[in-house]
Amino acid sequence: MFPKLILTALSFLAVVSAQQVGTSTAEVHPKMSWKKCTKAGGCTVQSNASITLDANWRWVHGVGGYNNCYTGQTWDKTLCPDGKTCAANCALEGADYAGNYGITTSGDSLTLKFVQPNSNGKNVGSRVYLMNSDTQYEMFKLLNQEFTFDVDVSNLPCGLNGALYFSEMDADGGAAKYPTNKAGAKYGTGYCDSQCPRDIKYIAGEANSNGWTPSTGDPNSGKGTYGACCNEMDIWEANSVSTAYTPHPCSVTGLSRCTGASCGTSDRYATVCDPDGCDFNSYRLGDTGFYGKGLKVDTSKKFTVVTQFITNTNTATGTLTEIRRLYVQNGVVIQNSKVNIPGITAGDSITGAFCDAQKSVFGDKTQFQAKGGLAAMGKAGGNGMVLVMSIWDDYDANMLWLDSSYPTTANPSTPGVKRGTCATTSGKPSDVESASPNSSVTFSNIRFGEIGSTYGADTGSTSTPPSSTSTAGNPTATQVKYGQWYV
Ligand SMILES: *[C@@H]1O[C@H](CO)[C@@H](O)[C@H](O)[C@H]1NC(C)=O
Ligand SMILES: *[C@@H]1O[C@H](CO)[C@@H](O)[C@H](O)[C@H]1NC(C)=O
Repeated sequence: MFPKLILTALSFLAVVSAQQVGTSTAEVHPKMSWKKCTKAGGCTVQSNASITLDANWRWVHGVGGYNNCYTGQTWDKTLCPDGKTCAANCALEGADYAGNYGITTSGDSLTLKFVQPNSNGKNVGSRVYLMNSDTQYEMFKLLNQEFTFDVDVSNLPCGLNGALYFSEMDADGGAAKYPTNKAGAKYGTGYCDSQCPRDIKYIAGEANSNGWTPSTGDPNSGKGTYGACCNEMDIWEANSVSTAYTPHPCSVTGLSRCTGASCGTSDRYATVCDPDGCDFNSYRLGDTGFYGKGLKVDTSKKFTVVTQFITNTNTATGTLTEIRRLYVQNGVVIQNSKVNIPGITAGDSITGAFCDAQKSVFGDKTQFQAKGGLAAMGKAGGNGMVLVMSIWDDYDANMLWLDSSYPTTANPSTPGVKRGTCATTSGKPSDVESASPNSSVTFSNIRFGEIGSTYGADTGSTSTPPSSTSTAGNPTATQVKYGQWYV
């Protein structure tokens, strides 16, 4: 719900990015399989899938040479006198995933390490995309479908965020639309999200070097004149203390490049997107015993997260009306926490009525309905979105919007202020980077398909539920609809 893109890139001497392709290191995408599921046919392994690292993290240097185009917080003035020339002059390099970035895969599992020491210093955080070929991102069409994965957040303390979400990026990273982008999806270009981030080094085939201002906090980041806006569906923003899922609709389709005030520079609500979104955070919504170490969803161990995109017609051509959440742990399905805030009657999922009630009762400013609400989010979900997985710390707000009281000046007993048990002094990037560099998140066993097809005893994803929790018998229509047939 708050800026996630305050790019915590490398502390490399050689941190850079560009739109040509370098020849120094071959780009070899780490394999990561996932499963497509149907109720009738079960799940089929997609074994040829892989991930790619976002372009912002890559070394970018002059074509045919090794001079950095970007170092620390600044662009080289000779190679990059303007954005167009910079895109022509600079090349993006292949990545040493494990060694330089602490990114490893095994079978259907991906681990992102927070701080990775390397020969150039260290790398902080990372962002990767799921691919279905060497040059194309996998596109997920979410309507009337269910997206499921296992996650281990046990090693993610206050201030960190292991995120899994969808952005409405181009499948080829924008290579066809912007022919000066020679790197394409293979090199992780084309990122955008609902914060209209301006720390993106290349947008729409040009470098963002014009007007680039160094970050005051992050030694490896800055902001350019342009921002990259697009629809964003946050399935999972979490650490071991708190979690939220949040649709962020925009009034545009696909990547929309903003400039100046339309990037929200003076008023964060003045963009084409909803930067806050409509969040469902169990703790914030009144169930403080639901999610955390030793709690109902026990974050000291791996568990399964199920997200269902329900339409008004229960078809993929309908309008998105509800986003439901379930958890599975130790073979037991755990229904989402119920909202327990006076004045919010809506139950345990994201609907338009829930969003209106939450914004009103919490007194939050909102652009959710103004930017199209669930219907707009669903339109993007129907078009197809790219799967993003990242680990990051927060140079803007210390992640307090997720796991502590926020704003910190508000009374924590006011409904909506407290979002988790982390101290308001926690989450400073300098603190977490030095105290918890070995933090990591592991995402695994991604499954996608018809509602009710991706979790349960028959997917091989979880063990059979213990018979003591099973009430055998014919499922009700509602149970079938939501895939709750065996609880
Ligand atoms: C697997 O991916 C590689 C790299 O993109 C591609 O060359 C190959 O044809 C793919 N194989 C199959 C069976 O799809
Ligand atoms: C992180 O891991 C490295 C390598 O195992 C170890 O040397 C270092 O002490 C760890 N750092 C912290 C703060 O735990």
